[in-house]
Amino acid sequence: MAKRILFTGGSGKAGKHVIPYLVDQGHHVVNVDLVPLVHPGVDNLIADITDSGQMFNAMSAYANFDELEPGTGVPAYDAVVHFAAVPRILINPDNETFRVNTMGTYNVIEAAVKLGIKKIVLASSETTYGLCFSDGQVNPKSLPLEEDYDVDPMDSYGLSKVLNEKTARTFQRRSGIDIYALRIGNVIEPHEYTELFPGYFENPEVRRRNAFCYIDARDLGQIVDLCLKKDGLGYQVFNAGNDTNGAILTSQQLIERFFPGTPVTRTLGEHEALFSNRKIRDVLGFKEQHDWRQYVKP
Ligand SMILES: NC(=O)c1ccc[n+]([C@@H]2O[C@H](COP(=O)([O-])OP(=O)(O)OC[C@H]3O[C@@H](n4cnc5c(N)ncnc54)[C@H](O)[C@@H]3O)[C@@H](O)[C@H]2O)c1
Repeated sequence: MAKRILFTGGSGKAGKHVIPYLVDQGHHVVNVDLVPLVHPGVDNLIADITDSGQMFNAMSAYANFDELEPGTGVPAYDAVVHFAAVPRILINPDNETFRVNTMGTYNVIEAAVKLGIKKIVLASSETTYGLCFSDGQVNPKSLPLEEDYDVDPMDSYGLSKVLNEKTARTFQRRSGIDIYALRIGNVIEPHEYTELFPGYFENPEVRRRNAFCYIDARDLGQIVDLCLKKDGLGYQVFNAGNDTNGAILTSQQLIERFFPGTPVTRTLGEHEALFSNRKIRDVLGFKEQHDWRQYVKP
């Protein structure tokens, strides 16, 4: 089951936890980023996703000197995991965020498809649901947030992720390969539970724009690995979040206090995430390993 994987953006907040998880599962990972990730067993290639030529080249190149030894040419990649991006608004000008994220994703998917790589997993975002970077407070059209929602963000970053899902769907339709887009929730690194969660419990309103979601960076590793192992689903969108809300209040209390009047489409468990992860549990067999309650006491 060990695969040869090209991973873009692996030196960032999420990737530096997801890649070690994949390496622990036995995969060989090549990280394509503007800066390297120093981790045992990981090869790095400095390349820019906004340059199509560099993406075609990266996906058809040796990973390291050892791959020269057999004399059988360049091995093929089994999968591409695409995380490289400008990760939110207010870092770059809006048009630059849009350009890097949409052209970068187009280049990565096009190169992978045209080079015959059969699996692509890409980082979409919770922000597609339109709460996160909205002007003013908006209510969702319904809760919980599930994958069949009519996503409609107001900002350049969320828009870039919606467009990337369309790009993925277009290439999947033409090629018939598997392309899975992960609408990733707010990523939490191990050290952030004690740093951030007490403040979230004291002022839950600061998490309203995230619909109180979180994804442990290591659990995100499990989700990516499950996507690599599950073949034959064609084009899919999956919310990537943990089982419960990053809050002490119950789901019912959160809805009444922060999203009053929003239609609730099904019965929710007491603390079941408003950013639903039901699909990854049902379809991929995701089993949460890092509930926040293991790391911080309310
Ligand atoms: N962090 C979150 O809470 C969160 C939530 C939802 C979605 N996401 C998405 O998950 C992915 C990873 O997010 P992150 O938080 O690790 O972001 P990050 O900014 O920490 O990491 C992104 C990485 O991409 C690289 N990169 C940026 N532009 C590049 C380019 N032109 N060419 C090559 N590499 C480039 C950066 O060097 C960096 O290492 C992104 O696609 C982001 O949009 C993140």
